[in-house]
Amino acid sequence: MYDRGAAVVQSDAFENPGLPPHRPRQTDLHPEKARRAERQVVGWFLLSMLGSVLAIVAYIAVPIESGDMGTVRFNNLFLGLGIALALLGVGFGGMHWARQLMSSHEVVEERHLSRGSEKSRARAVEIFQLGDEESGFSRRSLIRNTLIGAVALLPLPAVVLFRDLTPSTDPVAELSYTMWKPGSRLALDPSGTPIKASDVTIGSAFHVIPEELSEIGHNEGYLDQKALAAVLLVRLPLDRLNEQPDRAGWSYDGIVAYSKICTHVGCPVALYEQQTHHLLCPCHQSTFDVTNHAKVIFGPAKRALPQLPITVDDEGYLVAQRDFTEPIGPSFAERLGRVDPEHVPLSSAADMENRA
Ligand code: FES
Repeated sequence: MYDRGAAVVQSDAFENPGLPPHRPRQTDLHPEKARRAERQVVGWFLLSMLGSVLAIVAYIAVPIESGDMGTVRFNNLFLGLGIALALLGVGFGGMHWARQLMSSHEVVEERHLSRGSEKSRARAVEIFQLGDEESGFSRRSLIRNTLIGAVALLPLPAVVLFRDLTPSTDPVAELSYTMWKPGSRLALDPSGTPIKASDVTIGSAFHVIPEELSEIGHNEGYLDQKALAAVLLVRLPLDRLNEQPDRAGWSYDGIVAYSKICTHVGCPVALYEQQTHHLLCPCHQSTFDVTNHAKVIFGPAKRALPQLPITVDDEGYLVAQRDFTEPIGPSFAERLGRVDPEHVPLSSAADMENRA
């Protein structure tokens, strides 16, 4: 009863209806249906194993050929199919197992504090054992073993893929030297037309590759070689060129050649400022002073662009005197140390003499 004038507040609480009665599944009632479900689960896990193996086999058997888009498509297709099968097999198998064979009794779990007392630990073990018993994890050894097999094989495609990211040969050697060799003509990128010294006017900038690069097919590493050997060629007024005595013979009549690969993280340094004779890397704005051996005057790069020593041949074409004398690109190769010069037949002094 309420006092006169007091508001009457209806209780909105309702009675907990509880859980609906448990309805046994076909697999609970008929052992043969349970066995069929078990076979289906095993089938999914076997399919997953097959997918993992298929992914590895496809990656090795259908390699990507540089420049051949057909091989890229097939490699991606089979690799994707294999990994998809592997993941779907484990997923569907686990789902089917849970829905058809594990206990389907619904339970209400009361919320409780999550500290790990002895009692709760003991209860956790109990629950774990109950789960094991109800799921049949220990009892259904075929399912358990195929699941273990499927999960064990699942990461293998990733291991193979990541392992293959590193080159099979020594990466330091590959980055330390380029295909420039004594007598290599400097040619226009991408036409491959050799450049005469008389073609290079003051203030012009040429994107340059070795003439021999055009002899390399796209399947034979054309782009890899180009990425190492790319050079920027400019001509400066002689009075602007501050050459160190030990590099006095590396330019020709004010024409200088520098690696186009930024020493920061390897972007192409392709912006030439005619008035200041600065080379600018568009990625992080490292700026190199061409009048002073491409020294860094701004930005995150830590060392000058390597210079390609050049001269002219009998016909007036610009040629390299030798390979770069230091590794091109990001500075990590320097810290790792250079490879034995005998590994560099095309840049060796003996080779220069032979060509002379
Ligand atoms: S790559 Fe050139 S500045 Fe970073």
